[in-house]
Amino acid sequence: MIDFPAEPYRIKTVEPIRLNSRDDRDRIIRVAKFNVFKIPAEDVYIDFLTDSGTSAMSDNQWAGLLTGDESYAGCRNYFHFEETIRDITGFKHIIPVHQGRAGEHILYSSILKPGDKVPSNTHFDTTRANIEFLGAEAVDLLIDEGKRPDCIHPFKGNMNLEKLEAFIKANRANIPVATMTVTNNTGGGQPASLENIKKTSEILHSHGIPFIIDACRYAENSYFIKMRENGQDKRSVREIAREMFSYSDGCIMSAKKDGLANIGGFIGLNRDDWHEMVTNKMTLVEGFRTYGGLAGRDLEAITRGMVEALDEEYLAHRTGQVKSFGELLKGVGVPIIEPTGGHAVFVDVLSFLPDMPRELLSGWALTVALYREGGIRTVEIGTVMFGKYAKDGKMIFPPIEYVRLAVPRRVYTESHLKYVASVFKRIGANKKMVRGLRITYEPKFLRHFSAEFEEV
Ligand code: F0G
Repeated sequence: MIDFPAEPYRIKTVEPIRLNSRDDRDRIIRVAKFNVFKIPAEDVYIDFLTDSGTSAMSDNQWAGLLTGDESYAGCRNYFHFEETIRDITGFKHIIPVHQGRAGEHILYSSILKPGDKVPSNTHFDTTRANIEFLGAEAVDLLIDEGKRPDCIHPFKGNMNLEKLEAFIKANRANIPVATMTVTNNTGGGQPASLENIKKTSEILHSHGIPFIIDACRYAENSYFIKMRENGQDKRSVREIAREMFSYSDGCIMSAKKDGLANIGGFIGLNRDDWHEMVTNKMTLVEGFRTYGGLAGRDLEAITRGMVEALDEEYLAHRTGQVKSFGELLKGVGVPIIEPTGGHAVFVDVLSFLPDMPRELLSGWALTVALYREGGIRTVEIGTVMFGKYAKDGKMIFPPIEYVRLAVPRRVYTESHLKYVASVFKRIGANKKMVRGLRITYEPKFLRHFSAEFEEV
């Protein structure tokens, strides 16, 4: 067991959860066509589907809800939101949106055209889908260490700077913007270093390319910088974050992660021309620019959550809890991406189920087994999420096959995590519990949310 500080809070309200019988779960997963996104949440015992929008709010955030000013334009909570987030990020313009992907759509549809290319360390699936929907290409240029699950490196979310240079040289005319995801969600919640973010910014700016940070988990990333990067340990996480943002021209943030809120997000921008385009589009699709699809009370909960997420005792517990969960799983023989990232433990499915052909969708099959055997909901980040079809209809497998156990913030205790490890232990001892699948239905975009399957 690793040592990490206990929760810097105590529990004041509880929400019952229930483990139904294995027979019930078997029936439920069949009705859901073997897609855990289609299971009613009440039928889930431990929900690791996402760390997004699932945080427990503090008493201070709940109290903030009562101060909601629900005026259409210029509500007082907006000004508090703007002032607080401007202070954290340093951006000139702060525009609320109802969640991250709304920000992605509004910004990218304002600046991208078909044929454009957008480099990143790794695009998250909604970012990629929003870019591809506009006919542009989302290009991942992660360092090689970040692609190897067992490779130990403090900043596996770094951009590959040589590849970035080469990519720009080959495609300069078609790159209107570049981005970095901190922490790198799809690659294991791994952080990028301040030095790498700075160098990325220098390269991009030397070619006149604007730089946007996908900032969902910027507080966790900044905490890793403090703990792991040379010369950063004496600085506050807030200072580090502010420096990180200073290298970019703007950010898109889903406040459902490091905003400790159940809904919300924002776009931060320095450029006046982009601000103008974005606010025009805002009125069309999200709402007036001082509420962005949110109630005044939501703005207040986000503002208070943004401040709480920078608390270093909280971040020490948070990252320690995720790390200790990773150790628990390793202890029962489960290979994971190492070191553990900020928000989740990622199971390396190809090592856990080496005998299962990828055609049988091994990552997805493990999510089904975890639900059926233990009432645990997780998400596949592998073939169903990222696989593409070749011209002959064969699946092109992505380089990764992970199952992500995203840990909601301030929600589960050590005993919940131990229970999950015990379920993994049972599955590890009898891998026949993981049964192969085939897709029977899939939509055009973001297939994993609604695809249907049958067991083979
Ligand atoms: N960028 C990253 C890195 C994300 O992880 C997410 C969401 C988004 C953008 C979109 O934000 O959900 O508020 O629209 N990630 C969630 C997840 C859904 O489970 O990882 P959103």
